[in-house]
Amino acid sequence: MKIDLERADLSPLRGKTFVVTGGANGIGRAIVILLGEAGGNVVYGDLQLASNDPQNVKGCICNVTKWNDLLLLFETAVKFFGPIHGIVTNAGVMESSNFFSDDVDSSGRLVEPNHLVINLNLIATLNCVKIAMHFGCKDIVLIASSRAYVPVPGMGSVTYTASKYGVIGILRGLRSNPDVCVNCVSPHATDTNMIDDGCLRKTMHESKQIIQTPQTIAKAVGYHFIQQWTGKCILVMGNGYYELEEAFANSIDDWFDKEARASLGVYKGANINRLEGGLAN
Ligand SMILES: NC(=O)c1ccc[n+]([C@@H]2O[C@H](COP(=O)([O-])OP(=O)(O)OC[C@H]3O[C@@H](n4cnc5c(N)ncnc54)[C@H](O)[C@@H]3O)[C@@H](O)[C@H]2O)c1
Repeated sequence: MKIDLERADLSPLRGKTFVVTGGANGIGRAIVILLGEAGGNVVYGDLQLASNDPQNVKGCICNVTKWNDLLLLFETAVKFFGPIHGIVTNAGVMESSNFFSDDVDSSGRLVEPNHLVINLNLIATLNCVKIAMHFGCKDIVLIASSRAYVPVPGMGSVTYTASKYGVIGILRGLRSNPDVCVNCVSPHATDTNMIDDGCLRKTMHESKQIIQTPQTIAKAVGYHFIQQWTGKCILVMGNGYYELEEAFANSIDDWFDKEARASLGVYKGANINRLEGGLAN
């Protein structure tokens, strides 16, 4: 379902406190700026800090793959601004080499590949969500990728794709939890350092893909925070915003025969539209 969020009123975010991972650059930076300009207090964790943060924005050096760094990030947010209302798990990387190309040691034995992409995009996201819930945060926005829904021809990136499927798994697994609202934004190709890596930008231009601005993605994050819903995923592609999880849940009808449908009926659309919680309350 295409949604229109152009006229969204972000005033309910005023005075609320948000934690954003990977907020020094790219999409994370755009999210930090949007939440800050809406009057929210924002603490972001990143390997580096941005310059000229306004008073209501605080940067923390934080490697999200390190548990203690993540804990400290949340402790800092509480110390500066009080209870945390929302978090955005945004920090992520694309793989820089092919997971399936073999490296061997001096005896010719296969070397274990690097697992940074899974550790950062998936494990650190899970840890961040756990810590946020421990701190009583009620609104979680996960950043996944259009890769989790739409295959991109000619691009391997198997571990990146797997990690982002995992993020959708967190969304689907958590949305029946009555204690939190958890929603997701899945950006398609976006103009950041990430697509400057290797020849990605060139490949995207060659395959005529739409490349959007980080600000377009930030709008979808802000929109989730003013909704009273959980379990949704907004895919952003070329200034278009599409909610996909409801359609996905409803498509279960088409997968199975009558008998299987009857036994699975209780799961259909489970908890997708729960109208409670959310910052707007
Ligand atoms: N750019 C795209 O085309 C695109 C498409 C789909 C999804 N995404 C997702 O959007 C999110 C943001 O990506 P981006 O394009 O803005 O990338 P980016 O490289 O421009 O920014 C990522 C930020 O995360 C920080 N970071 C990296 N490792 C970190 C760590 N261990 N701890 C803390 N911070 C760390 C970086 O310093 C940087 O500031 C990622 O999850 C990415 O997978 C991006």
